Amino acid sequence: MTEGIDLAAAKSEFYHPSPRVVANAYAPDYLALREQAANDPVAFWDARAKELIDWYEPYTQVLDQSGAPFFKWFVGGKTNVVHNALDRHVQGWRKNKVALIWEAEDGEVRTYSYYDLWREVNQFANVLKGLGVAKGDTVTIYMGRVPELPIAMLATAKIGAIHSVVYGGFSEQALADRINDAQSRVVVTCDGAWLRGKTVNLKEITDEALTKAPVVEQVVVLKRTGQDVAWVEGRDHWWHDLTHDISAECPTEPMDAEDPLFILYTSGSTGKPKGQLHTCGGYQVHIATTLQYVFDLKEDDRYWCAADPGWITGHSYIVYGPLILGATSLMYEGAPGYPNPDRWWALVEKFGVTVLYTAPTAIRGFMRLGESWPDKHPMQSLRLLGSVGEPINPEAWRWYYTHVGKEQCPIMDTWWQTETGGFMITPTPVVPLKPGSGTLPFAGILADVVREDGSSADANEDGYLVIKHPWPGMTRTIWGDPDRFKQTYWADFAQQGWYFTGDSARRDEDGYFWIIGRMDDVIKVSGYRLGTAEIESALVSHPKVAEAAVIGVPDELRGNAIYAFCILRAGVEGNDALMNELKQHVRHEVGPIAVPQQLDFVATLPKTRSGKIMRRLLKAQVTGQPLGDTSTLEA
Ligand code: PRX
Repeated sequence: MTEGIDLAAAKSEFYHPSPRVVANAYAPDYLALREQAANDPVAFWDARAKELIDWYEPYTQVLDQSGAPFFKWFVGGKTNVVHNALDRHVQGWRKNKVALIWEAEDGEVRTYSYYDLWREVNQFANVLKGLGVAKGDTVTIYMGRVPELPIAMLATAKIGAIHSVVYGGFSEQALADRINDAQSRVVVTCDGAWLRGKTVNLKEITDEALTKAPVVEQVVVLKRTGQDVAWVEGRDHWWHDLTHDISAECPTEPMDAEDPLFILYTSGSTGKPKGQLHTCGGYQVHIATTLQYVFDLKEDDRYWCAADPGWITGHSYIVYGPLILGATSLMYEGAPGYPNPDRWWALVEKFGVTVLYTAPTAIRGFMRLGESWPDKHPMQSLRLLGSVGEPINPEAWRWYYTHVGKEQCPIMDTWWQTETGGFMITPTPVVPLKPGSGTLPFAGILADVVREDGSSADANEDGYLVIKHPWPGMTRTIWGDPDRFKQTYWADFAQQGWYFTGDSARRDEDGYFWIIGRMDDVIKVSGYRLGTAEIESALVSHPKVAEAAVIGVPDELRGNAIYAFCILRAGVEGNDALMNELKQHVRHEVGPIAVPQQLDFVATLPKTRSGKIMRRLLKAQVTGQPLGDTSTLEA
């Protein structure tokens, strides 16, 4: 038997944790605890809220269901995530503990103790106040992967304002839409970001976005690349000028448990992105609990979540979760295989990373480069691995297990969503694993696979993945659009009052969950979430396009690839030049991640008699699947 997982058992279906892993786990009796929590989820979360989170004032009610589906957690409690993430740590010995190690793409390393981070957050919080940001205001943050990104998030939260982080890969139109939706008067950005030795011109993109977002009054610009940037006097300010000589004393605003903490936009089935609203109390409890149980963080761990802070994974498990637990995290600025294919493995060795959390798409990318790269590195510090964002195919799972984890490290395949705030279906180190399955719903999470009528699906029968009981990290609403929130998540199983995830899944005879994929018009490309409608509306906004349909087709590396069909306006000829022009147009409207891999010009699109495009038929045609029921097809 190896130290990590019993390989003899692995030859049957389960990968069983070794006795050493079980003995060291934060919750060795997790499976029993899970049973208990299933009977009384509210008591489970109540106990965690008291164990892991400090409250300025205690809550009087754990869960208020009276306004369902607008649930409230920890009602009456007063807290601030920054108190739990920083303030309380600097009061004790963790003041000198390393909170964050950051390596730039060019190899520069910066290390922040909890005290350092606390000081910088306080200073930037004072900067925001000086720019007129008050409790309840929104601040849009559009930056590269630099330490100042978490600093800006924490500073915003510290003064009770609401951050809206926009991923640095989005285009100016996507940025403008998000700024306008959130009505942010202040934007924080960088001159540029480094990626594969080149710069992404963030300030230039921001400037263009602001021509469409007149609400913005102040822009803070971090100097990262030193490139030339245009400047609007009175509006634009350098980060270093504003933080120079500013006080590092800033009180932390006591927040109501249900006050907004942040908005994070995500794609859905219409073109307009949905601002998911997470709040101050329940979110903290959920992410701290899940991170503690699943990645089993110890004081001497060096934890690396390789996601981007601009996505929910980064919010919950790079910024807030690890800091609440007082952990030491690594953050890396650049692209995975740059400049060498073993950059990541060299980082694991250099910093003695013990827990590595990444996405299947990155793993498949590394698989392509060959095992010689990870095999060059013993990476003996690693003890746990994680996966998120899309189903991990068993082949990639085994490669990750063998070549990165050296057959010593269990893989935590965590299923969750921007909407859920934190892990929902996941193993902990003591749960026997099956490659490709997220195993079981986390303690206190009541998930099920059901049929359309709400009855539970049989073992191995495909169905709708639903959550049957509220959980503390759940999205509270869609910013400015409560009706859409109800319609999107709570209408399919309204009678039962269940949350519909949008995913289809299957549960096997051992009760293990297997995620099949999205049932709505969302495509996961390299783990990024894109709405078909977003890309379609970008295409039809081009003057030469009359109609467009977009589907996702299976792709070995990316999980799915974007396939677009366009009907051109009368008299327009479809040729290679136009194809490239349209791809550029999508890049400009949404961002590089949304550019279709394949684009066909067609004369017609299959539609229902009511005029809805039948994407299912397009997909069947492309993938060579049977067409299925075509009775609603327009004659
Ligand atoms: O389809 C599921 C897939 O990603 C969707 C959520 O995407 P997003 O909001 O961008 O959040 C990603 C990071 C949490 C889900 O509806 N998904 C996420 N994790 C997994 C997954 N599919 C299979 N296995 C996973 N571990």
